Amino acid sequence: MEEKEEGVNLNWTLPVSSVQELVRQRQPDAVPPRYLRDDIVMAGHHRELSQGLPRIDLGKLMDPPSRSTELCNLHSACRQWGLFLLVNHGVLDEGMRMMKENVQGFFDLPHHEKQKSAQKPGSLEGYGQAFVTSHDQKLQWNDMIFLKCHPAHARNLDLWPKNPPEFRIALEKYSEDMRKLAAEVVKYIGMALGIHEGELDLLTKSFGEGKYEVRMNYYPACPEPERAIGLLPHADISGITLLTECGNIPGLQVLSKDNCWVTVPPVPGGIVVNLGQIMEVYSNGTYRAPDHRAVVNKEKERVSIATFCYPSPSLPVGPSPQLLAATGLPPIYQTLSNSGEFLQCFLSHKLDDAVPFIDTLKLQTPNRCVRPFHLLLVL
Ligand code: OGA
Ligand code: NI
Repeated sequence: MEEKEEGVNLNWTLPVSSVQELVRQRQPDAVPPRYLRDDIVMAGHHRELSQGLPRIDLGKLMDPPSRSTELCNLHSACRQWGLFLLVNHGVLDEGMRMMKENVQGFFDLPHHEKQKSAQKPGSLEGYGQAFVTSHDQKLQWNDMIFLKCHPAHARNLDLWPKNPPEFRIALEKYSEDMRKLAAEVVKYIGMALGIHEGELDLLTKSFGEGKYEVRMNYYPACPEPERAIGLLPHADISGITLLTECGNIPGLQVLSKDNCWVTVPPVPGGIVVNLGQIMEVYSNGTYRAPDHRAVVNKEKERVSIATFCYPSPSLPVGPSPQLLAATGLPPIYQTLSNSGEFLQCFLSHKLDDAVPFIDTLKLQTPNRCVRPFHLLLVL
């Protein structure tokens, strides 16, 4: 899987200067033109929730007497939202605190120090920005450092910051904690879906031995928050994503089933879980990989840590055979041999993403492997 991915040509990602530096040096009182995205921020509806987003208690899932009720809650959370707040997750405070401090500490360093971990041409890994493909492309109000963590041989340690001095230890520990947690969470998501025995073991094991990438996001305070976007709306490509907030500043929003942006408030000690497209495919569309985005804040910077969790190549990426058998429904999506192939297709698709990637895997679409029709007309 790793070989395949390294073969992907990402030379179309261009380096962009840091937003944090822009704010530090110029302290603009207006959003510079390249960052203007009022079209996105103001589009669509925004809604406050009367009842709050679903909260899932891992302790209750692990404890047989409370399991079945909590599995029902998990099932409905994955169907309705594809996102929930995980509490009582068992990850020790000490590891979480150390990771948060070191990520904040990294972004607080002078620019030249962070540049030691800068992305290399043609790669997303390291310190920089994601998916910038042209010199006039609009930009997001976000800097990031993106690092591969598991399996250990996939690490590019030359990009792992040496400063703050405990950064590497913190990331190693944190990503190990997230790997264990993800395997556990995926097991219960599988159970909520009705998967059992051999297939459930395969699912859980594939996440236990899977691929883990950590994206640390820095969103500087923004003079006109309604005119710039921290992260554009997207659905993650992962199996699941585990998101930790480093402070108490809201920014994450999730798209509800009725197309409203809903703010996901930070909850100290909680971890936000959102399903990625691999789980949407695995659940044959029963569960959602929700669109989400990050908005920015006028007064305060915001730092978040997203861990993208992928199954190992032992798991084919397609609708669950047990689920199809139990429901008698036809598969909505095609099956790819593993998550490496899934990612490969996703990255090629990035070049012309006029249709959502997951739709290109739909079996009903006759010409799913060709370019969208309107692009054929102009090329
Ligand atoms: C991501 C992401 C949200 C956030 O990194 O994919 O959705 O709140 N982050 O930073
Ligand atoms: Ni995301």
